[in-house]
Amino acid sequence: MTNSGKMNAVICTKFGPPEVLKLMEVDIPTPNADEVLIRNYGTSINTVDYIHRGGKAPKVAFWGMRQILGLFLRLSFGGLRKPKQKIPGCGFTGEIISLGKEVLDWKVGDHVYGYSEKGGASAEYMTVSASVLAKKPENLSFQETAAVPGGSTPALIAFRDLATPKKGDKVLVIGASGGIGTFAVQIAKNVYGAEVTGVCGPSNIEMVKEIGADFVIDYTREDYTKSDIKYEIILDIVSAQNLSKCKNILASDGTYIANNPISSPRSIFHIMTNNKQFKTGPADESAAAMNLICEWIESGKIRPVIDSVYPLSQTVEAHRRYETGHAKGRVVISIE
Ligand SMILES: NC(=O)c1ccc[n+]([C@@H]2O[C@H](COP(=O)([O-])OP(=O)(O)OC[C@H]3O[C@@H](n4cnc5c(N)ncnc54)[C@H](OP(=O)(O)O)[C@@H]3O)[C@@H](O)[C@H]2O)c1
Repeated sequence: MTNSGKMNAVICTKFGPPEVLKLMEVDIPTPNADEVLIRNYGTSINTVDYIHRGGKAPKVAFWGMRQILGLFLRLSFGGLRKPKQKIPGCGFTGEIISLGKEVLDWKVGDHVYGYSEKGGASAEYMTVSASVLAKKPENLSFQETAAVPGGSTPALIAFRDLATPKKGDKVLVIGASGGIGTFAVQIAKNVYGAEVTGVCGPSNIEMVKEIGADFVIDYTREDYTKSDIKYEIILDIVSAQNLSKCKNILASDGTYIANNPISSPRSIFHIMTNNKQFKTGPADESAAAMNLICEWIESGKIRPVIDSVYPLSQTVEAHRRYETGHAKGRVVISIE
C-alpha cells in the first residue's frame, strides 16, 4: 500500500458523455468487516458503465421505455441528479491487500477477480465484498483477466440457464464479434458442442472463425433471416433482430434469446404473455458464475478476446471506443 494513503482513480461527479470522467488523486478506501481491499490491476467497459456514467437507459431501449427506464436506473443506482458511486467500473482483478475481520476464506496476497455491482474498479485500490470474489484464472495475465467479468456472464446465462444447446444443435449468435459475442461463440461451441454460426461485420469475419465459429455471416452482405437453415437457438446480443423477424429461421421447438428485453414493445409483450420461444434474463455475476468461467478458461475452452487496452489515464478514450458499438472483443483498462 502507498505511504501517502492516496491512489489514482477515475471520478464521475455528474452524468454525461465520456468527458465527464476525470483522473484524480483520492483516499484509498477502507474495507468493511465483510470486505477486502484489493490492489486492482484492471477493469473493462460494458453497458453498465455507460448507464452509470450517462445516467441513461441502454441505447437499444425503445422510445418511451428509454425515459422510464433511465429514471428507474438512476433511482436503483441511488443517484437521481448525479452518480452516487463516484468511481465507475464493476469488473475487477487484483491482489488482496487487507481483509475485513469477518473475512475468513481469503488471505492477503490471493489473486482474485469478479464483478462488484457497487463499482469502484476504475481505481488502483478498491474494496469488494468477499461474497463476490472468485479465484483469478492462472493461465491469464491480470490484463487478460480484466477482460472477462461483464462480457462472459451474459453469454454464460444464455446457454447455461435460458436455452442449453445439445451437442450438434445449430446456434446463431448475432453480434458475435463484440465483448459478449466472442464469449458466446466459444461457450456454445467448446462447452456445449453446438454448431455455431456467428453474425458480424466484414472486418471481423476471420476473428470470429478463429475463436471457433463453424460459419460466419457478414450482416452487411446477407439477410440471414431469409435463409432456409433452422436454428435451435438464436442469441441476439445487439437487438439487431427480434423474435418475429427470426421466426423463419428458428426451429419449431427453438428458442430466441434476447440479450436486451427492452429493445421493442414486442419483446415486452413476449415476456408478459410468457411466449415459450422467447427467453431473456440478466447476467449472473456471482462468485459461483465467475468460478465456473475460471474453470472453462483454465481448461482451455474459452479465452477473452481483447479489442484494445488503455491506461487508467485514458479511460475517456476507452469509453468512447466501447460506445462505437464495433469493438472487436473487450475494451480493457490496465491499471499498472
Ligand atoms: N442481459 C444482460 O445482462 C446484459 C448485460 C450486459 C449488456 N447487455 C447488452 O449487450 C449489448 C452490448 O453487447 P456487447 O458489449 O457485446 O457490445 P459490443 O462489444 O459493442 O459489440 C457489439 C457487436 O455487435 C456487432 N454488430 C453491430 N451491429 C450489428 C448488426 N446489425 N448485426 C449483427 N452484429 C452487429 C458489432 O460487430 P461489427 O463491429 O463486426 O459490426 C460488434 O462487434 C447491449 O445492448 C447491452 O444492453 C445485456
